[in-house]
Amino acid sequence: MTDLKNKVAVVTGTASGIGKAIATSFVNSGANVVLSDVNVELGEQVCADLQKINSNVTFVKADVSKEEEVKNVIQTAEKKFNTLNVIVNNAARAIGGYPVTDMSNEDWHAVIGSNLSSVFYGCKHSIPIFKKIGGGSIINIASAQAHTPLPGWAAYAATKGGIISMTRQLATEFGPYNIRTNSISPGTINTEMVKQVVSEDGTGKLFEEQLGMHPIGRIGEPEEIGATAVFLASDGGAFTNGADFRVDGGLTITPRMKPGAGSRSK
Ligand SMILES: NC(=O)c1ccc[n+]([C@@H]2O[C@H](COP(=O)([O-])OP(=O)(O)OC[C@H]3O[C@@H](n4cnc5c(N)ncnc54)[C@H](O)[C@@H]3O)[C@@H](O)[C@H]2O)c1
Repeated sequence: MTDLKNKVAVVTGTASGIGKAIATSFVNSGANVVLSDVNVELGEQVCADLQKINSNVTFVKADVSKEEEVKNVIQTAEKKFNTLNVIVNNAARAIGGYPVTDMSNEDWHAVIGSNLSSVFYGCKHSIPIFKKIGGGSIINIASAQAHTPLPGWAAYAATKGGIISMTRQLATEFGPYNIRTNSISPGTINTEMVKQVVSEDGTGKLFEEQLGMHPIGRIGEPEEIGATAVFLASDGGAFTNGADFRVDGGLTITPRMKPGAGSRSK
């Protein structure tokens, strides 16, 4: 039920982290994948590695904040494979960590462009293909941030909340065409993005605090998001539509408390 043989997928932001892990999980499950990233050097490197598993993997450079570039990735996939079954709108930037009152309009528009408009472009240009071929799976990468606030991240959280809302709307609107739209909300995952946020924080305590926020006692690995994406892309997920998967070790079921608080004996 998690076999992706003969499926064609586009994944954005595949040069590192979660996007790379999703693309790798897809290839390992038999899919033909069009990889995409703004970072050409790393993007090509990941592509070369995955081509050793499946020669039907290709890389197309795209800045997802630019509609024409996202459209080009999707059209390249359709032209090359004559179909498209899955799109993963994953690429995003972590702009934040400071009060919204200090945020420049430039940063606001940058985070909206790379994190939210990007998802709109990906959906807008893949849905017509999915309609034509009788269905498809859209997987949007949201965040735990959309569910539980963390000071300093209002703009980033706004993009992720927007993604979950848009996902539900699209699931309703295009479900009748057998187009399933779902999102994944990762907790803290061991990627470059988190390393960047931790190093920019300056308190020296953020990583320990992040660990403490996850009841499962650790942060996640990118492959654990890859596994959920494979399910959503596969026929195993055929009845799953409009869902948001919190793959977060329990982070968002707690009020950002450290595990153990309130559990001391009398
Ligand atoms: N790592 C986490 O803890 C975490 C938690 C929740 C949600 N997420 C989400 O998961 C997704 C992947 O994050 P990650 O942790 O793997 O980050 P990452 O920084 O490791 O990787 C992001 C990739 O996206 C690319 N990218 C960034 N902006 C782009 C643009 N405008 N156009 C094209 N490519 C671009 C980068 O070059 C990079 O390869 C993002 O949507 C992020 O918001 C991550």
